[in-house]
Amino acid sequence: MIPNIIPDPEPGEELRKFGLMRKNYLKENNLQVYESLVANGTLFQEMVKVDEAADRIKEQVLPQLLKDAGVTEELKQKDQLKWVLNHMPKSDDQHLDVMSLPNVAKARSFHGSFPQYSITPLAQLDGMAQYLGLAGVYVKDESYRFGLNAFKVLGGSFAMARYIAGEMGRDVSEMNYDYLTSEAFRKEFGQATFFTATDGNHGRGVAWAANKLGQKSVVHMPKGSSKSRFDNIAKEGAKVTIEEVNYDDCVRMAAAEAAQTEHGVIVQDTAWDGYEEIPSWIMQGYGTMANEAADQLRQCSVNRPTHVFVQAGVGSLAGAVVGYFANLFPNDPPKFVVMEAEAADCLYQGALANDGKPRIVTGDLKTIMAGLACGEPNTISWDILRNHVSAFISCPDWVSAKGMRMLSSPVKGDPRVVSGESGAVGMGVLDAIMCDDTYKELRDALELDRHSRVLMFSTEGNTDPEKYRRVVWGGEYPTDDTPQKPC
Ligand SMILES: Cc1ncc(COP(=O)(O)O)c(C=O)c1O
Repeated sequence: MIPNIIPDPEPGEELRKFGLMRKNYLKENNLQVYESLVANGTLFQEMVKVDEAADRIKEQVLPQLLKDAGVTEELKQKDQLKWVLNHMPKSDDQHLDVMSLPNVAKARSFHGSFPQYSITPLAQLDGMAQYLGLAGVYVKDESYRFGLNAFKVLGGSFAMARYIAGEMGRDVSEMNYDYLTSEAFRKEFGQATFFTATDGNHGRGVAWAANKLGQKSVVHMPKGSSKSRFDNIAKEGAKVTIEEVNYDDCVRMAAAEAAQTEHGVIVQDTAWDGYEEIPSWIMQGYGTMANEAADQLRQCSVNRPTHVFVQAGVGSLAGAVVGYFANLFPNDPPKFVVMEAEAADCLYQGALANDGKPRIVTGDLKTIMAGLACGEPNTISWDILRNHVSAFISCPDWVSAKGMRMLSSPVKGDPRVVSGESGAVGMGVLDAIMCDDTYKELRDALELDRHSRVLMFSTEGNTDPEKYRRVVWGGEYPTDDTPQKPC
């Protein structure tokens, strides 16, 4: 009789961490044993036994380790992602048109007229995708935006252009950089003063655009704002202050001052009842980033991302990104996931309440994700998000710290992305969802698997360099008990 010399297929995905480790160990260090197990067809059973033994040891040892480290169920609960699938009643979606493709095309054409303009990179993290069990991970790296280290300038600058166009009775397509910096324009329009409140990035963008276009700007920052962010705004020639109140109160302050100033206008990156036009222009400005990303994905032969992860403070950015992609793929939209800082999770709270009405979060809103520390949703964005988002996630600070470290120290072969506290939360969330079975239900509900191509936005670089170093080099907000996938 001829013996069956075709060995069983090598054990692969079915094995877990310790089985795979043992298998790799034997293959690399004890080939004789490895080959004899393969030859007699028992490699897989043996490695399964290793996994089972590891499970038994874990069951015995883990409770004691957790007790020694003071980890309680209550503590674990407190420190986890909170998530909710969107089951809110839908509205008539009247604001989706804000992010129509022609509106976004106008914004991109305006930004393209600046001599400082270039398309920011889309980092293709193939190694990371493989590690997480996904088909693709793509990170739009906004640390390169206009040399300002964050995406925000896209919104303020386009809103200023549309405001000026409106005052002059023209269309924004006539407002390019060369015209706005010309002598003829200066004579005809003169100067306006643009007021705003900011955690840093939006104000810097408004100050930068005002400076470049020969306009004036006044910027108020909330209590606790960092000195480096203050300095960056002052450098652009803006009148800037750090106030003793939170972000939302700074917005009210800027609005009141603008109302009392001749040729004064508030350019705020959030909408409320009665203040919707300028924020909608700001959202269109953010559309440039989403539009670039869609083009870049196509260049990587990805016609459509299956998932888009986007972080939110007031939600203008999220509304812009979700609105743009919902318009781009009206029949087959990607699944949208919106992430917030736990301390300011107003959109999550709204989704949790499940009646379609927005919710407000108050207090000091303390989080390392300074750009996401906003407790009052943009009303236009909220309407877009409630109609199109699949899940809302509320994130403790360690999530973003982990994302910063993962992007800073990528899988071999992947490009590095310098991503700040508000920029990296998507990476941290994706890692948690894919690697930690605590979130398996969410993973399954979002259908995140080997076929998924995920787009996310690193919306800022190291805008607070000291903090960045403390987290990435110094290991602030450690996550040493998060589950790891076997590499
Ligand atoms: C870096 C960064 N990312 C994300 C956001 C969130 O944008 P939004 O407030 O529109 O939700 C901000 C807001 O300032 C930001 O600065």
